[in-house]
Amino acid sequence: MQYRRLGSSGLQLSALSFGAWVTFGGQVGRTTARELIAAAWDNGINFFDNAEGYGHGAAESLMGDVIADLRLPRDGYCVSSKVFFGATEEPRPTQRGLSRKHVTDACHAALRRLRVDYLDLYYCHRPDPDTPVEETVWAMDALVRQGKVLYWGTSEWSVGQIREAHKVARQNHLVAPTMEQPQYNLLHRERVELEYAPLYAEYGMGATVWSPLASGLLTGKYNDGIPEHSRLADPSIGWLRGMVIGDPEQRRLERAREFTALAGEFGVAPAPLAIAWCLRNPHVSSVILGATRVDQLLQNLQALDILETLEEACWHKVRVVAS
Ligand SMILES: NC(=O)c1ccc[n+]([C@@H]2O[C@H](COP(=O)([O-])OP(=O)(O)OC[C@H]3O[C@@H](n4cnc5c(N)ncnc54)[C@H](OP(=O)(O)O)[C@@H]3O)[C@@H](O)[C@H]2O)c1
Repeated sequence: MQYRRLGSSGLQLSALSFGAWVTFGGQVGRTTARELIAAAWDNGINFFDNAEGYGHGAAESLMGDVIADLRLPRDGYCVSSKVFFGATEEPRPTQRGLSRKHVTDACHAALRRLRVDYLDLYYCHRPDPDTPVEETVWAMDALVRQGKVLYWGTSEWSVGQIREAHKVARQNHLVAPTMEQPQYNLLHRERVELEYAPLYAEYGMGATVWSPLASGLLTGKYNDGIPEHSRLADPSIGWLRGMVIGDPEQRRLERAREFTALAGEFGVAPAPLAIAWCLRNPHVSSVILGATRVDQLLQNLQALDILETLEEACWHKVRVVAS
């Protein structure tokens, strides 16, 4: 495993981390969840990503249960939660968003479900138009000072909103956001590479990026249709299908097919190649992987070897597909 600093902080996260979205508390049961966390840990992964909204809290409960069962040493791993969407199907106004109340309640609930005394990373899962940024920054600062959160950050905030949070923090001597959690993959690059470009140097922010395989599209598994038991075959998350395949103008499926062919030409599997491509960006602190089976996770970990060994001429060809 390779370890990278979370932006300019002293926290060293594994360059590949593991997340629970739609899998824990949804697609996979306890036995598989336990095997996945064990395999991740055995291969040096030290960051496990979660959110109050994943399975309405069920993903956090399952992850907390499994980590406790595996007896992972608390000082050896990092765990996150995210606040915004709420942990119930129909949240009341105080059960969602980024008000001081919900940020505080959601932190306490995540600590209970994950069975930990503190969250290593705590993200604002989306910006909240109904809460002043100042209120959220004060709430996060309070949780850090209480020892319940170590590093706080944002997920899919605009660069303007992130700047505003830093301004409030600087003016009031509060703890500022350390990291963003944006989507980043070969087919979705603009925010991480262009919009956030000033944030890395100016504020020392790190990026912990999600969906490196575009929900599996970049593995080539959807090249000839939707296989049974795959994420896009799951009717409970049918809304995702349109986003992953996209509209014809975006040519997402065609580009995935081109990318898959290229991986074949290099003699590597497409999934770890796509993940290694994310790792080549020096602003990426950690690429958050998702998997429903241990063999997927093990294949994805080959990204680290590909990163070391693939020739520059090959990366040039990948860049053409990604542009
Ligand atoms: N902050 C946010 O808003 C946000 C949003 C989304 C995700 N995230 C975080 O990022 C994590 C990763 O996102 P993601 O799950 O979308 O990542 P992803 O890598 O784009 O997709 C993972 C899915 O692709 C399939 N897959 C993975 N490896 C494969 C392989 N080698 N061969 C074939 N299929 C493979 C599996 O689905 P199937 O087996 O079901 O097909 C797996 O669950 C999440 O768990 C979550 O922690 C954050």
